[in-house]
Amino acid sequence: MSTSLVLGNVNCAFQQVFTKVAKLQIKQNFAFAIVVGDLFGEGTSEEELNQISALLAGNITIPLPTYFSVGKHPIPTRVVEKIQADDEVCPNLYFIGRRGTLKTSEGIRIATLGGEVATDGQSDPNINKRFHSLYTESDARSLYGVHDTDILITHEWPKGITGRSQVPLSDDKVAPEGVQCVADVCSTLKPRYHFSSKADFFYEREPFFHVPTDENPDVKSLTRFINMAPYGNPVGQKWMYAFTYDPKAPIPDTVPTGTTVSPLASVAKKRPALESQKEGFQRFSRGDNERPHKRARRPPPGPGECFFCLSNPNIATHIITSIGNDAYLTTAKGPLTKTDTYPLLGFPGHMLIIPLIHSPTFTSIADPEARKSTYAEMQRYRIALNDMVREKSKSSLGSVTWEVSRGNGIHVHWQYLPVASDLIAKGLVEAAFKVEAENLQYPKFTSSSNDDGANEIGDYFRVWISQPVTEDGESKGGSEKVLILPLTPDFRFDLQYGRRVMAKLLRLEQRMDWRECGQSMEDEVADVEAFKDAFKKHDFSLEEE
Ligand SMILES: *[C@@H]1O[C@H](CO)[C@@H](O)[C@H](O)[C@H]1NC(C)=O
Ligand SMILES: [Zn+2]
Repeated sequence: MSTSLVLGNVNCAFQQVFTKVAKLQIKQNFAFAIVVGDLFGEGTSEEELNQISALLAGNITIPLPTYFSVGKHPIPTRVVEKIQADDEVCPNLYFIGRRGTLKTSEGIRIATLGGEVATDGQSDPNINKRFHSLYTESDARSLYGVHDTDILITHEWPKGITGRSQVPLSDDKVAPEGVQCVADVCSTLKPRYHFSSKADFFYEREPFFHVPTDENPDVKSLTRFINMAPYGNPVGQKWMYAFTYDPKAPIPDTVPTGTTVSPLASVAKKRPALESQKEGFQRFSRGDNERPHKRARRPPPGPGECFFCLSNPNIATHIITSIGNDAYLTTAKGPLTKTDTYPLLGFPGHMLIIPLIHSPTFTSIADPEARKSTYAEMQRYRIALNDMVREKSKSSLGSVTWEVSRGNGIHVHWQYLPVASDLIAKGLVEAAFKVEAENLQYPKFTSSSNDDGANEIGDYFRVWISQPVTEDGESKGGSEKVLILPLTPDFRFDLQYGRRVMAKLLRLEQRMDWRECGQSMEDEVADVEAFKDAFKKHDFSLEEE
């Protein structure tokens, strides 16, 4: 049980605000504070610039751990540089990220989506950047994987939030226009508190409960939506709010009087995928009711610790290049190919295509709809990558994509690697996989016996070898071969087999181990940017829905 403090826009009034907070803190001993909205505001007047200097110089005392995100305005450059250098603005003042998650030491989970959603056709190059104040809908969707959160902070209001409410707005104020994807994030994460800052007045509607799910018909998760007024507002509207919350308390089975049903439209299309994602989470991290207790081994990591789950706060987000509805794309950490391996590309081109659902195999995605849409979107990414590679390389490169599917695995994904089409044409790629398998006394490759790739049964290693066609060629995907190496659950299989084969074939043996191919952050970012630039026109996730 802990009491925390929420503050509205501070707009650079650090001295005044944190002096007040320090006085309160002596009596109240808050666990932490959150600034909802703009800590800095525009930060352009002389007084504001002086306040920023004082803050960065450590001349302002922040009396307790204080977290902030992005509001309406981007974070000032000087502050960005300080955060990048030291991870904090000054002692006790931490940036969660425009889109981010954080678990406080009290165990309270905070998710943020600051800034404003980009409107149709707005193609600001800074969209989705960590310190910027514009995001896309797919960026918002990437928060779905967070599953549950205690506190959600968004600058914007969820669409429809004033519906079903009897609470009048103060002084003839008008509610800001809400945003559908913020409503979707709220409905999906079901936070206990949702704080916002877009309106310049205090507003708290009745708590509302989310429609119970099929799995948990009795659980009525309650959300309290509160918009904080800015500090220094002329009419004395509330800009500080203290709340007491115990993240371990069970969800009460009765709802307080005045509570309404959720005014937010349901996220119909997303439901199947999310439910099965949640099932995955329960199965791996808490649920012991389904898994037999035969082997006393540590359970595989759940989504919070899994390095392929977007909900993992430690995931390297700067290598994410595209997020779709059911899958996302990243550059590979420690890529096999180097930035100059394929001069026509200008970046390594070693990519990962990863489902948003946390599941070790396709067939263990319980919901057939979600399984189908996940597989289909991963294929869509693979084909889009092929199109990009073909175009950039003037048809001199094809690709190899491989998957290790094991029931005791963690989070299924595909590795994608461009490869010279000459090698493919001569049959050398296929031979390389077969010879290495033979050397290791692995089972023999077969062709897939299944027309539907999403339902390939059992444990296996699968590889797609894809040959480009010339611009006037027959089919868009070129010619393609799918090979399957069937595995039994207890078979000792080298998870690096695909990389090992390709390293030998491309004479990159010294890069066999990805851990020895680490790049500097700068080089990673440069490769990501070069890739994004080339992929832009093939990236379907950037299209409006
Ligand atoms: C910080 O405080 C010191 C000592 O009072 C003062 O000399 C300095 O000018 C201040 N720096 C800023 C940027 O306010
Ligand atoms: Zn995962």
